Order: sequence, then structure tokens, then C-alpha cells
Amino acid sequence: MARPSVMVTHRWPAPVEARLSESFNAVFNTSDRPLSPAEIREALTTYDAVLPTVTDRISAEALDVRTSKAKILANYGVGYSHICEDAARNLGLTVTNTPDVLSECTADLAMTLLLMSARRAGEGERELRSGNWTGWRPTHLMGTKVSGKTLGIVGFGRIGQEMARRARHGFGMQILVQNRSRVAPDILAQCDATQVDTLEDLLPQCDFLSLHCPGGGANRHLIDARKLDLMKPDAILINTARGEVVDELALIQALIFETIGGAALDVFEGEPSINPDLMQCDNLVLLPHLGSATKEAREAMGFRVLENLTDFFEGREPRDRVI
Ligand code: DGY
Repeated sequence: MARPSVMVTHRWPAPVEARLSESFNAVFNTSDRPLSPAEIREALTTYDAVLPTVTDRISAEALDVRTSKAKILANYGVGYSHICEDAARNLGLTVTNTPDVLSECTADLAMTLLLMSARRAGEGERELRSGNWTGWRPTHLMGTKVSGKTLGIVGFGRIGQEMARRARHGFGMQILVQNRSRVAPDILAQCDATQVDTLEDLLPQCDFLSLHCPGGGANRHLIDARKLDLMKPDAILINTARGEVVDELALIQALIFETIGGAALDVFEGEPSINPDLMQCDNLVLLPHLGSATKEAREAMGFRVLENLTDFFEGREPRDRVI
């Protein structure tokens, strides 16, 4: 039987590309730039599978084909809010993602952002590199202590739980959780965490707030001006989830007028474009969507896509089917 043809929309880590090429008739987008809607439509009508990432906007426009030769979108990444769910369903596409294998590394990065923001690491590095450091002094770049403080976690899936583990067992933080559904008591107990019902309950209690909920329409601007107002004046917001979860204009206001203590973002509305006003905020740490960017996680994500594809083409239900 001919090997299924798969279109890979970006370059992947070399060991995964090699395995993909052994198992499938794989075509790679060697330019490594996101495909346009027309190129996605072309891929859908040409290949048996399309393997996108978060940077490919798999919108209704990109899925607007009469019939799709591809029957599966095997996404490289856990979040899939870049894929228009209704249009994918209408075309009869199976969609898979890559959970679990990136949870620890993404939580590590959320903790990195929390620490950088609390300890003003970005400001310090900028000062030093620009030659403006005048030496140690008692009041220089004083940050805020992390150990023992209260961390609010929004979304208690796998990444949220890993974040809680690090914060509780590494830094003795108190963990409060807000999640759509009830979290099992034994899961909460692993981090001595307490679940609260609403964001309104959560926000006024937190010294740090870390977002780990899905993106997409339902959570667009979940953190808006009103929610930012509910945060303590010295609280710090960390977002490694999706850019659209935070209303960036409201966040810029909160940072400029110092109604919150600071923020640290790994994801942005409309990335890779960054609102220039964000760049002006000194009390903000910015990273270019590095959550899962370790060799280990990125290879494991690729192998997880391979597993999903193999199951699909051999007639089994892929383990990570989300649509
Ligand atoms: C994820 O896995 O969702 C990362 O953000 C990259 O897409």
C-alpha cells in the first residue's frame, strides 16, 4: 500500500522529520513561514494529512474547500484554538493535538516568567546590557518575595497542575484554583490547593495569577479591565496560555497606571506582531512563545503527532483526537 502523503507546515526537530519521512510520504514547508489560507486549501486538496502548528491560521476561509483529500489535521501542539472547529467538523476532518508531553516544560517556563517578573530580572538585564548599572545599593531594583505567597491558577489541566506542583513544593506557595469543572479532591490535595468558584472570588486573593486555560472565543478577554481591577495593586499576571485570553489594551493601562504590580507574557494577541505600547512597559517581561521550546518537549510533540497519524491511517482511534 502506498504511504499516506502528509504536508508538514513548518520545520520540525530533525529526529522527528527523519521518522516522518520513513513512515510517510512527507513534504515539508522548508520556508518555515506560516501558510496562507490559499496554501492551506491547496494542501487539503493535495495530501492525505496536514500537520499544522499554532502559527497556521486554520480559519473558516482556509478550510473553505468543496471536498478535502486530507481527512486529518494532526496538530503539533496542545492548543488548537487556531483551528476553526465548526469548519473542520463540516469537512469531516479528524483533529488531534499533543497533550502531556509539553506540560512540564510549559510549567517550567511559566515559573521562569513568574520569577523574572517578581525579581525584575528583565529590567536588571536591560540595565546591565545598556551600561547603566552603577553598582550594588540597598534600594536597587527591589522586587517581591515569591516563597510563601499566594498563586492563583486559572485552568487546572495538566499544565496548571504542573505549575501548582512547582509553586507549592518548590516555593511553598499557597495555591488557589479556578477551573470550569470541579477538580477531584485528590488532585487538589497533591498541592494543598483550594478551588474557588469564580474569577471574582480568586483575583482579590492572589499575589500571582497564572493562566493555563484554553484560548479561543469562549475565553477571549477573560482577563479584561474589570478583572484587572479586581487584582491586588502589587499582583503579577503571568500568561503562557493564549494571547487572546488577556485584553492587551486593558493590560497596558493597568501596567502604565500601576494598578497591578507587573506582568509576564509568553503569548500575544495577533502574535508575532506585538503591540508597541507593551514594549514601553518596564514592569512587563516578554518572551516569544517559548512555553514548550525544549529539545525534549519539541521532539516528544513530534513523535506524538506521528503516533496519532499512525493510529489514524491504520484504522484506530488516535489517542489525542479533539475533533
Ligand atoms: C501549544 O502546544 O499549544 C503551544 O503553545 C504551541 O502551539
